[in-house]
Amino acid sequence: MNIRDPHRFSNELEHDVVQRIIARLESRAKDEVFTRLFDRYAQHIELDDSSRVLDLGCGTGAIARSLARKPNFSGRIVGVDQSEAFIEAARRFSADEQVGECVEFLVCDGHCLDLEDASFDVAIAHTLISHVSDPATVVQELARVVRPGGTVVIFDGDYSSLTYAVPDHEFGRRMDFALAHASFNNPHIMRDLVRMLPDYGFGVVTTLADVVSEIGTASYFASFADTYAPLVVSSGLMAQHELDHWLHLIERAKDDNTFFAACNYYAYILERF
Ligand SMILES: C[S@@+](CC[C@H](N)C(=O)[O-])C[C@H]1O[C@@H](n2cnc3c(N)ncnc32)[C@H](O)[C@@H]1O
Repeated sequence: MNIRDPHRFSNELEHDVVQRIIARLESRAKDEVFTRLFDRYAQHIELDDSSRVLDLGCGTGAIARSLARKPNFSGRIVGVDQSEAFIEAARRFSADEQVGECVEFLVCDGHCLDLEDASFDVAIAHTLISHVSDPATVVQELARVVRPGGTVVIFDGDYSSLTYAVPDHEFGRRMDFALAHASFNNPHIMRDLVRMLPDYGFGVVTTLADVVSEIGTASYFASFADTYAPLVVSSGLMAQHELDHWLHLIERAKDDNTFFAACNYYAYILERF
């Protein structure tokens, strides 16, 4: 088996894969599902004129740019990602959207941040923690760079709940498992995190839970399947003919409006003690 979460190794990907992921991150950021989930947890973040915000694992900078567009925001946002190509795209998009003035992007590994202790009021990790090599070290770094009393939001899916319906339930169950394990280094991290947080100096202020589902028509989950389903074969978890059959069933479900897919997402709003 050769399981290799592409986001975990985002600084080692081939050019065309990088371009596909940049397109997927940007189209996802415009999807109604993404904006609804972000807007929901963003209501729990208090920002003032001088807030310093870290967007860790920022990818193309979708979250950083959304925050920078907020009316009256005049603080500073630092987007950090290990992928030079994603950071280059983030800088380009923020210049195009003219939000560059309050946002800065850095290439850096979330396991050893080149950032001062207690230098942020708020940190957000939006769909990062499911991908990193060592979630505990990243949580420790978040605790180090956020000031006592500051806020950390960790948002991600619980990917044991990721499911696409196909008529043969056993085949569907195997494909769901393969998709979760081929695409995410830590598919169950959101349920593990609740045990880890007190050890790293965090208290849970609020947790938000959302079932994301698409029934009949497909957009968010169709784009996820197009980008990541091929990984079930390259990882050795499924055979090519099984993937082809699954993709055919998903296409048919989209065509005749019988599509069904779902996943549970969680936002942990944390206080740094
Ligand atoms: C699913 S993407 C999310 C991107 C962005 N937060 C968004 O929601 O559009 C995961 C991101 O985590 C980054 N990443 C993975 N491991 C990392 C690490 N150890 N340090 C920094 N970034 C990392 C990847 O390069 C990728 O950009």
